Amino acid sequence: MVAEVIYGDQLAASLREEMKEEVTKLKASGISPKLVVVLIGDDPASKSYVSGKQKAADFIGIDSELISLPSTTEEKSLLELIERLNNDQSVHGILVQLPLPKQINEQAIIEAIDPSKDVDGFHPISIGRMLTQQETFLPCTPYGIVTMLQSKNIDIAGKHAVIVGRSNIVGKPVGQLLLNEHATVSYCHSRTKDLSAITKQADILIVAVGREKMIDASFIKPGAVVIDVGVNRTNEGTLTGDVDFESAKAVSSYITPVPKGVGPMTITMLMKNTIQAAKAHNK
Ligand code: GUN
Repeated sequence: MVAEVIYGDQLAASLREEMKEEVTKLKASGISPKLVVVLIGDDPASKSYVSGKQKAADFIGIDSELISLPSTTEEKSLLELIERLNNDQSVHGILVQLPLPKQINEQAIIEAIDPSKDVDGFHPISIGRMLTQQETFLPCTPYGIVTMLQSKNIDIAGKHAVIVGRSNIVGKPVGQLLLNEHATVSYCHSRTKDLSAITKQADILIVAVGREKMIDASFIKPGAVVIDVGVNRTNEGTLTGDVDFESAKAVSSYITPVPKGVGPMTITMLMKNTIQAAKAHNK
């Protein structure tokens, strides 16, 4: 079997077109969605993610403001900034790019954001609502992954989804979203014994670890769907995933590439959440 490749960049482009039309209509009715992105320090990867978010917002017609602060910024001044943005009625979404410098408690910052503006879906209230299947902002990468599966009409209900990686941003929430869609979910991580014995049971295998080519065909059940969330920079400076694409493609039914896979979908779902925030604000 040779897998069909799920190109996230193509799906993202068509969703962004739809959102552009929606934002045009919202603006005509007096609602102008606005996202504020806060970037602390000058980490190249964070800068690149943030610029991707700005570009997507510009294309769709979402107002986006970038607030760049030095890496020496104290937690107190960041908390004050968030308080100001929480109270600013023109701002619908607030995103503080992670990771943050050591002197700032990341969790304190996440919890300071008004849940009604938490377009990242990282606030404990957003997470609790996701867990209990109430309306909320879904975390962007997991939301993008489920959207990619649905775009190919891949059945989730009753399937065994195996997640490799247990980060708060991707691994844990993507398992929860797939559980909400009635999958049977297993989580694997660095202490998992005999990883391949478990990944080989997966109908849907999601890999979000951050280790280049850690998963090849020997970890994959023939016909499985493979979603690669890894973004690793090779010694040659190119981007590569956690999955050995060519090896995995030969045995799976669907596979996502890196780049042009999950990454563009993450940004797209952030835009979707920002539009959702703007609509809810004006209800
Ligand atoms: N850093 C890496 N990914 C993300 C993300 O999705 N949101 C934020 N705020 N920071 C990140």
